[in-house]
Amino acid sequence: MDLRTCVFDDRPDLRAQAEEIFSAGWPEFIFHDPAADRQMDRVRAWFGELNLLLVDGADRIVAGGWGVPVSWDGTLDDLPGGYDDALLRAVGLHEAGGRADTLVIAAAQVRADLQGRGLAREMLGLLASAGEHAGLERVIAPVRPTSKARYPLTPMTEFMTWTRRDGAPLDPWLRTHQRMGARMLCAAERSMTMEGSVTEWEKWAGFALPASGRYVVPGALAPLALDHAADHGELVEPNVWVRHR
Ligand SMILES: CC(C)(COP(=O)(O)OP(=O)(O)OC[C@H]1O[C@@H](n2cnc3c(N)ncnc32)[C@H](O)[C@@H]1OP(=O)(O)O)[C@@H](O)C(=O)NCCC(=O)NCCS
Repeated sequence: MDLRTCVFDDRPDLRAQAEEIFSAGWPEFIFHDPAADRQMDRVRAWFGELNLLLVDGADRIVAGGWGVPVSWDGTLDDLPGGYDDALLRAVGLHEAGGRADTLVIAAAQVRADLQGRGLAREMLGLLASAGEHAGLERVIAPVRPTSKARYPLTPMTEFMTWTRRDGAPLDPWLRTHQRMGARMLCAAERSMTMEGSVTEWEKWAGFALPASGRYVVPGALAPLALDHAADHGELVEPNVWVRHR
C-alpha cells in the first residue's frame, strides 16, 4: 500500500472522513469524559503537530493517532495519573511556558477494515518520530487494552500480567506495543473518567439501570458506579502505562 503521512490540521478536506472513521467502533460513553473534554480545544490548538493521519494513494484515511507533550522525570511516581491527567499536564505545562521532554501517545486508531495488518505499528512509529522532531526524547502511552472489556471485574494489575502460551501478553493491543519494544510500567488505575446522568447511562448501556449500585456495561473496562439519589453515574477506567524505547 502506498501510504503518506499528514498532519491532521493540514488536511481540512479529510475532516469529515476522519470524523466518520474515528467515531466508529467505540462505546458511546467513551465520548463523555468531561476532564478530557475541558482540555481538548487547547490540545488541538497547541499540539497539532502531534496529530497525524496515514493516508493511502486515493486519499483514504487508513489510520490516525495523536499525542501530547509532557515533562516526566522517568520515574513511576512522576507518571501522569493516566489519559485525563496527561492532557491536563500537557496543557498546564504549555500555559506555564515549561519545557516538555516526553511524548504521551493518547490514542491510535486503524480503519476497521484494515485492522490486523500491522498498521498500528506504523502509526505508533510515526508518532514517536513526530515527538522526536519536537524534542520529546521519551515516549509513553496509557494503553487501553482492546480485550479488557471482556474481563471488567478483573483488576488491571492482574489483567496486564496475563500471557498466552508463547509468553506474549494476552491482550492484542499490549502485544503490538510489546513487539515494538515497549515495556509495561504499571497500571494507570484512574486513566479516564466518564460521567453522565442515570438516563444517559441507560442510553449508553442500552438497558435499564433501576437502582444505585455497580453495573457491567458493554465495552467498559471496569464496572460503572451509579448513584440514583445524585442522578449520576461514574465509570473510572484503568489503562496500562507503557514506555517505548
Ligand atoms: C488497537 C488497534 C489500533 C490495533 O491496530 P492494528 O493495526 O489492527 O494492530 P495490529 O495489526 O498490530 O494487530 C494487533 C493484534 O490485534 C489483532 N487484531 C487486530 N485487529 C483485529 C480484529 N479486528 N479482530 C481480531 N484480531 C485483531 C491482530 O491479529 C494482532 O494480534 P497478533 O499479535 O496475534 O498478531 C486497532 O485495532 C484499532 O484501531 N482499534 C480501535 C481503536 C482502539 O481501540 N485503539 C486503542 C486505544 S486508543
